[in-house]
Amino acid sequence: MNQEKVIVIDFGGQYNQLVARRVRECNVYCEIYSYKTDLSKIKEMNPKGIILTGGPNSVYEEGAATCSKELFEMGIPVLGLCYGAQLMSHVLGGKVERAANREYGKTETSFDTTSKLFTGIPETSIVWMSHFDYISKLAPGFKSVAHTDNCPVAAAENEDAKLYAIQFHPEVLHTQYGKEILFNFVRNICACEGSWRMDSFVETQIKDIREKVGDGKVLLALSGGVDSSVLAALLAKAIGPQLTCVFVDHGLLRKNEGDEVEEVFGKSGNFDVNFVRVNAKDRYYAKLAGVCEPEKKRKIIGEEFIRVFEEEAKKIGAVDFLAQGTIYPDVVESGLGGESAVIKSHHNVGGLPDFVDFKEIIEPLRNLFKDEVRKAGLELGLPEYLVFRQPFPGPGLGIRIIGDVTEEKVRIVQDADAIYREEVALAAEEWKKQNGIGAEERSALSVSERFEAAYNSNPSWMPDQYFAALTNMRSVGVMGDERTYDYAVALRAVRTVDFMTAEAADIPFEVLQKVMSRIINEVRGVNRVMYDLTSKPPGTIEME
Ligand code: XMP
Repeated sequence: MNQEKVIVIDFGGQYNQLVARRVRECNVYCEIYSYKTDLSKIKEMNPKGIILTGGPNSVYEEGAATCSKELFEMGIPVLGLCYGAQLMSHVLGGKVERAANREYGKTETSFDTTSKLFTGIPETSIVWMSHFDYISKLAPGFKSVAHTDNCPVAAAENEDAKLYAIQFHPEVLHTQYGKEILFNFVRNICACEGSWRMDSFVETQIKDIREKVGDGKVLLALSGGVDSSVLAALLAKAIGPQLTCVFVDHGLLRKNEGDEVEEVFGKSGNFDVNFVRVNAKDRYYAKLAGVCEPEKKRKIIGEEFIRVFEEEAKKIGAVDFLAQGTIYPDVVESGLGGESAVIKSHHNVGGLPDFVDFKEIIEPLRNLFKDEVRKAGLELGLPEYLVFRQPFPGPGLGIRIIGDVTEEKVRIVQDADAIYREEVALAAEEWKKQNGIGAEERSALSVSERFEAAYNSNPSWMPDQYFAALTNMRSVGVMGDERTYDYAVALRAVRTVDFMTAEAADIPFEVLQKVMSRIINEVRGVNRVMYDLTSKPPGTIEME
C-alpha cells in the first residue's frame, strides 16, 4: 500500500499521540517513531512531512534527546513543536536559553499571517504555551513569524528550506487555531492530498486480510468491547465462516451484554461467522466465592479466562491465525512506536497466545487510534451502542462489587447500572435532539458526520465513563412503614482524556435524582444511592 504519510518524531512529550491524531484528522496518515530511529529508516519511509514533538529536556543539556542536522537537509518539510522547535534552532545554529519565568497556559499571540503556516487565521489569537526555554537567537535563514509579550519567537520559519518551528502546542484544543495550523502544514506545505479515510482503510484491510489468510482458519477471543467487536466485524466481512469467535461470558458483564453480543455475532446477526458463547458464570462464581481482596479477585478472573479459553481452543483444534485487537496506542505505549512509553497496568488477555495452537498472530487494527476504530465499526455496520461503548474492565463487575462477589450482588449492580446508563443516555439524547442532531437525523448521515454527531457532540457534562458499583455497605432506611437494612449503591461518573487522571462529571442534579429514585424503587436490596465525587488521583476510576 503506497499510503502518503507524515512522521511524528517523538522526543518524549506528553502530547505525542495527540499530534498524530490531529494529523490524521486532516485525513493524512501519520505514524510515531522514537527520536532514536535511524535516519535511513525514516528516509526509506519516504514521508511527505516530519513533525518533531515536545519533550522534557533542555536542548543544551548534556545527553539531551537530539537529532542529526541531516534531518533538516532532506528537502522534506519539518515542523518542530516546543522542544522540537528549540531543537531545530539549536541544531541549525540558533541559540536556546532558559527564560527568567516559565511561560505557561493560554497566551495571546500575534501571527504573521503571510506565513504559509498561518494562512487564513486571525492576526492575534490564544495558544497553549508550556516552556521554560526559549529561542533567544534565530538560526541562519530563519525569521520570526509569531510572538507573545514574553516570547519574541513564538514561531520561526525558513520558507525556502521548508522548516517551521513553533514554540506553542497546536495539537491541544486550548490553541484556538491549532487545527488550522496543522492543516496548513500537512495539506499545504507538505502537499498531502488527504486520502486517509475510513472507508478506504476498511476496503484495503479486507483485501489484505483475504490475501494473507487465504483459506486458513482464524480464531478470535471476542470480549464484546469496541476493539474486539470491530475486529470481528472486519474479519467477518473479509473471510466469513473461516473465523471462529469465542465469547466467554463470565457472568460479570453488564446487564444483557452477553445477549447483545450474541445478537450481533450469533446466528441471528448479520455476520456469517462461527460464534461460540461459553456460559462460564457458575465456574467464575464458584471460584470467587468468599474472596474479598481486589487483586486476588482480578487474578482469579484472569486465570479462569485463560482456562476456559484453552478448553474451547482445544475443541476447535489447530488454527492458522490468532487475531488480536491491538490498536495504535497499545503499540506506542508498549514502547514499539514512540518514546514516551506509558507502562500499561491493565491487560485483559494476558498470555493467551501460549494456550492456543496457531501459526501466526494477525492484528488488523494495529495502526488505528480508538476514534478510528469506532469509525471503522460504523463503516462495517455495527450498531451505535456497540461502537460507542464506554471502556469496561476485563474483570468486569467483579471489581465493581466491593468485597465478595455473589449472584445476588451481581444482579443488584447490573440492575442499578442499567438504570443509570439508560437515564444518562436519555438525557444526553434529549440534549442532542434539542441541538438538532437527534438519532433519527443521525441515521441519514455519512459515517464521519454520524461519528461527529453521535460521539463528539455531547452535552458538556457527558461522562467519558460512568457506572454503578456496589459499596458492600449496608445501612438503615425506611420504606413505607418498614425499617430496611440494605445495600448502598455508588454512582461513578468521570470526565477524562486519557483515563490516567479524571474529574467527577457534573451530571445534572435532576438526572441523578431520577436515577436514585428509580434504583431505590426498582432494584430490590438497595436503600441508598451515593454519588462519588472523587478525582483521580487520589481515587481510581474503578473502586477496586
Ligand atoms: P482505574 O480504576 O485504574 O481505571 O483508574 C482506569 C481505566 O482502566 C479501566 N480498568 C481496567 N481495564 N482491565 C481492564 O481492561 C482491568 O483490570 C482494569 N482495571 C481498570 C477502568 O475501567 C478505566 O477505564
